[in-house]
Amino acid sequence: MLIHQPVWWIHAMLIQRRQAGSRGPSAVLRNTNSTMRDASDDWSWRNTGGSMSTAQERLKTICWADGHVRLIDQTRLPTELVYLDITAAKDMFHAIRTLQVRGAPAIGIAAAYGLYLAVSDFPDHRTTGDFLAYVDKNCRYLASARPTAVNLFWALEKLGKTAHAYSGSSVPEIKRHLLEEAHQIFATDRQTCRQIGENGYELVKDLSAILTHCNAGGLATSEYGTALAPVYIAAEKGHLLRVYADETRPLLQGARITAFELHKAGIPVTLLCDNMAAVVMSQKKVGAVIVGADRIARNGDTANKIGTYSLAINAKAHGVPFYVAAPISTFDPNCPSGDKIPIEEREAEEVTCGFGKRTAPEGIDVYNPAFDVTPHRLIDGIITEVGVVRPPFHEGIDRLFA
Ligand code: MRU
Repeated sequence: MLIHQPVWWIHAMLIQRRQAGSRGPSAVLRNTNSTMRDASDDWSWRNTGGSMSTAQERLKTICWADGHVRLIDQTRLPTELVYLDITAAKDMFHAIRTLQVRGAPAIGIAAAYGLYLAVSDFPDHRTTGDFLAYVDKNCRYLASARPTAVNLFWALEKLGKTAHAYSGSSVPEIKRHLLEEAHQIFATDRQTCRQIGENGYELVKDLSAILTHCNAGGLATSEYGTALAPVYIAAEKGHLLRVYADETRPLLQGARITAFELHKAGIPVTLLCDNMAAVVMSQKKVGAVIVGADRIARNGDTANKIGTYSLAINAKAHGVPFYVAAPISTFDPNCPSGDKIPIEEREAEEVTCGFGKRTAPEGIDVYNPAFDVTPHRLIDGIITEVGVVRPPFHEGIDRLFA
């Protein structure tokens, strides 16, 4: 039963599945709004008189809509704004694995709704015991979509626990509780990210620019993002911070997604190739680096998009404060240090033929880890919804889980 298994057990199971060659089903998804258009009317800070929520209510990363999940297909950004309507768990698995929905908190929300979709068709007249076994099986299935972002396992564990807590109830009642829990995860994420923004704002209120990597913005969460939340809060207070965005090879989440969402929100953004960050720091163009996280170990070591580690070394060399912004759900209290964090390795083609054009010889060996671990000694603070955790991190993190 998933809920009584530690996080490492889920990973061991994932590795077994991978070794067995399980790649999950391919999904045929219905595109409800497959349009090629400039989304600035939907996503503009300026057009909404500074009201963040009004702007983003019209363009949602992920939401529950009349019995199914609607999410933005992030593989199509920035040229196309395509919404996917997801009605089945296999389609949610595919969306998570292929990065149609990505970013740790958004993956957690997607998995929670995905689990509800998975079990919602279970016959109501069957026994609760059979239903709980079905819930556990689907938790294991969805947990195998990606290995690094702990929010995936966190959300599934939460729903698994909810199901088992109602083991004395009927199948329809447990289903209702599962949907409520998924809604709760979604709603809490918005408040949590806003609070991360408020707490992070204190660190950037005297700055004119920050640098970020990958996308830890609204499109990685239900709304505000984590690393970009202080920037959105600053804008709400009338302070427009410039964001230097690493393009983030190989899948260009910085160029395609961070630049897209900030530009559409009317926040000044300057795009950089990843190898330009040291120069930008040496020229004193940025006052801090803020990145998101996929998993934070008990000692503060932090897994985030590949390239974060080099950025932290560069920041240390230039005396630029380096912050991680993440909700408590991204901490893994069972993981003592970064070397225990499972790191996803993705297909060679992401490196050799990004976006359809071959850029390396056929048959070349490729190493493509999707994440790296930044050692805690390079991190100046971890911005959470309950405050900024400072070194020594093991003490501050222990207090989060006390
Ligand atoms: O592979 P991705 O695009 O899911 O990687 C995303 C990141 O590394 C983000 O920085 C992280 O998940 C934090 S999102 C608030």
